Amino acid sequence: MTRIDFRQVRKRYAPGLPLTIKDADIEIDSGEFCVFVGPSGCGKSTLLRMVAGLEDISEGELLIGGQRVNDLPPAKRGVAMVFQSYALYPHMTVAENMAFGLRTLGADKAAIERKVRAAAEILQLTPLLERLPKALSGGQRQRVAIGRAIVKEPRVFLFDEPLSNLDAALRVQTRLEIARLHKDLGSASMIYVTHDQVEAMTLADKIVLLHAGKLIEERGSVAQVGSPMTLYHRPASRFVAEFIGSPRMNVLPARLVGAEARHAQVEMLGQEVRVAADARHLPFGEKVLLGVRPEHLVVADEGEGAGLPVTLRHVERLGDASLLYVDAGAGLPTLTVRREGAATHAPGTPLTLRLLPEQLHLFDAREMACRRTVELPA
Ligand SMILES: Nc1ncnc2c1ncn2[C@@H]1O[C@H](COP(=O)(O)OP(=O)(O)OP(=O)(O)O)[C@@H](O)[C@H]1O
Ligand SMILES: [Mg+2]
Repeated sequence: MTRIDFRQVRKRYAPGLPLTIKDADIEIDSGEFCVFVGPSGCGKSTLLRMVAGLEDISEGELLIGGQRVNDLPPAKRGVAMVFQSYALYPHMTVAENMAFGLRTLGADKAAIERKVRAAAEILQLTPLLERLPKALSGGQRQRVAIGRAIVKEPRVFLFDEPLSNLDAALRVQTRLEIARLHKDLGSASMIYVTHDQVEAMTLADKIVLLHAGKLIEERGSVAQVGSPMTLYHRPASRFVAEFIGSPRMNVLPARLVGAEARHAQVEMLGQEVRVAADARHLPFGEKVLLGVRPEHLVVADEGEGAGLPVTLRHVERLGDASLLYVDAGAGLPTLTVRREGAATHAPGTPLTLRLLPEQLHLFDAREMACRRTVELPA
């Protein structure tokens, strides 16, 4: 059983530089698929390389399987890492590439062959074992790189953006293969780094979303830890709300005018809007932010009554859905509305948007979320 615990971990690459990682407290359960996600430069690779033993830990503790590993050399940690660049040996066949690590450790020849065959079977590489890397597609090469990790039978798999060199279709296919691999390998824990929130949402049991830039100094590295649905439905802050979900959440300025246990009232553009959130800890009159995802903004049918009046500026048709970009008034950001099907409205059309209390998010002046009073979907 292999838990991984980061305890108050900090990283400063050199004296005088700001902290790259600040006060990271992360618990990864045995067998869990954990995804580290966040903007470029937020420290995802740094955290992963700390687990692999390729990067020193400046402060705090890292535990693998309950054992403090801060000073344990990489080879003794029972981890295997798969990088973005597959780094295969060009003059070796698929089988030789996969066997190479075990050979250098002096493993028994028959055992190596057995492990390579088993890994090839899992990754559907059996027919390709005698090929050279140059005769493989990008996706197949990445599978060989994964195979090289599997034959080591690690306690922990570490993936650093393994799919970013693949084209979109291959990325989806390989993503499914990695999900299947996690199921097949059962007890191995996985940490997977990506900046792609779709990969994070689809692969993770647990997402660790990391702050970047000055938010690291203000709030620490970890923005939120939770299941994909928790981050989507209960983002802890505006940063999380805007990172998870595509297109990103709309955020509008408002003012708190009422707060009960299950609902808050805010005033926005001269209208009173009800939000299913608990804002009783905030003072009346507080400047707040109202968040609503593009998929939760509903265009009212004609004559349907009250709502937010907006003007359509631009339409993008995606085939299955359309994105409407609308203006709500001077000084406000353009809002994005996602509608099923092909929108037929012309730019310039006035529309009314309905705001449903259960679909709204409320953030305080510090951009921290008020607790939503809607149930999480099962
Ligand atoms: N060896 C180093 N010396 C100094 N600073 C470094 C070093 N390696 C990384 N950094 C800095 O630490 C920060 C985090 O880098 P890291 O590579 O962990 O980010 P990342 O989240 O993996 O980003 P990306 O998504 O672009 O891969 C960056 O600001 C980077 O410039
Ligand atoms: Mg990186």
